[in-house]
Amino acid sequence: MRRIVANSLTGLAVIVLAAGQGKRMHSTLPKVLHPVAGRPMLSYVLDVAESLDPDSIIAVIGHERDQVRDFLNTRQQPLLQVVEQPTQQGTGDAILKTKEAIGRNIDKVIILNGDVPLLTSQTLERLIAFHASEHTAVAMLTVKVVNPKGYGRVVRSKGSSVLKIIEEVDATPDELEITEINAGTYITTPSFLFPALGVIQPKNAQNEYYLTDVIEVAVANGSGAAALLLADPAEVHGVNSRADLANVESVMRGRIRERVMANGVTLSNPQTAYIDHSVQIGQDVTVCPHVTLEGTTMIGDGCVIRSGVRIVDSVLGRRVTVLDSSVIAGSKIEDDAVVGPFAHLRHGTRLEQKSKVGNFVEMKKTTLGKGSKANHLTYLGDSHIGSDVNIGAGTITCNYDGEAKHETIIGDGTLIGSNSSLVAPVKIGKNAVTAAGSTITEDIDSETLGIARSKQVNKPGKVKKRKQQGK
Ligand code: UD1
Ligand code: CA
Repeated sequence: MRRIVANSLTGLAVIVLAAGQGKRMHSTLPKVLHPVAGRPMLSYVLDVAESLDPDSIIAVIGHERDQVRDFLNTRQQPLLQVVEQPTQQGTGDAILKTKEAIGRNIDKVIILNGDVPLLTSQTLERLIAFHASEHTAVAMLTVKVVNPKGYGRVVRSKGSSVLKIIEEVDATPDELEITEINAGTYITTPSFLFPALGVIQPKNAQNEYYLTDVIEVAVANGSGAAALLLADPAEVHGVNSRADLANVESVMRGRIRERVMANGVTLSNPQTAYIDHSVQIGQDVTVCPHVTLEGTTMIGDGCVIRSGVRIVDSVLGRRVTVLDSSVIAGSKIEDDAVVGPFAHLRHGTRLEQKSKVGNFVEMKKTTLGKGSKANHLTYLGDSHIGSDVNIGAGTITCNYDGEAKHETIIGDGTLIGSNSSLVAPVKIGKNAVTAAGSTITEDIDSETLGIARSKQVNKPGKVKKRKQQGK
């Protein structure tokens, strides 16, 4: 961890506002927990807060507080303090609730909206430096946008100094024309902030205490407010609606693509590669069009992921090939294995080195040993399969008896004939063979051929006879 602008800050607190209801999302999930590239949007805001190496981070929670608190507990951030805002009376009220939590050593406070997840630490560093150079009580980020709908507008004097922020619902027609908007990111001092919040009144269309009104307080008392106008609006995009969420998601996914490409991954059609924030990909990996990589997935060097593949919470070793339209979840795949096309590997699947799982094969809680193959039309569940085994086309492990699941164990070097049903629990020894079409209900010893099917009867001349009988 490093202290940014080390000389100018002695005690820094970052407040993250996360108590609002998010009405415009029309959701039972609190807005700040809606996922962006696979993780709650609030986690990005907490990450950027942490990157500033502050003395404390204070999250204000309120609406659906238990859900938000549960999420915050998963973060295990020692610096994080949680403050409750019992009724959501506006962003100003939310900040007032942090007063007790701000330590005496704190002389700078950064305020972040929990619904602005694209903000980068570089931009916050610029804001910190800007505030130090402007010597105003408060400094904030603003940006000019083509469509300012939904944002607070920045009202400036003729000489272009900041006068106030007016919320859209309270704005006059002239103010609505303003295209410079408030990003919801501020830096100030506790000695200015809390007295100023004591002055503001909820006299507006929403009857809320607006944090934004402290700008006018600073202008009125002469301590001043300054705005750092950013060139790129993408970073400060706030999420109020599902449409905003989609926009933010698309920017975040773009950033992730840039990152993985910079690390040596080929995305043959980047726009269609959906990669979660937490996914790790090695060097010289090729990701073909329309691939989704989710959760804690890790992909080793030299893998090839063909089109239409979805991989969730899985670990792939080196040089693994996943052929088209396969789904892999909760699985571990070792070096040089080949999967697909059209394979479905469910939780607890483990493919050892150089094994091969092909067309229309489903696996669950099953280990397929080194060099073993299950190439066609097969279900393997709750099974331990040794090395160099060949699972014939159409093999089914019958792992469920209607009440409980049972295991199938297959030894090294065994050949399971096509269209075999292996009724679990059942054990097949090393180098055994099952005859095609068998329903295996008894264990088979090593080096043994198991046949379990009715004998074929050929009836010469029977076809002709049936025809004569008009059948
Ligand atoms: C706010 C700003 C607006 C700015 C925009 C930028 C105010 C009054 N307006 O508007 O000028 O352009 O952000 O994105 O601040 N929250 C609480 N407690 C509350 C209300 C809100 O914690 O009582 C939290 C929300 O969870 C959210 C953040 O504060 O993370 C902003 O609230 P929101 O209602 O989204 O404000 P905007 O209307 O977007
Ligand atoms: Ca907002």
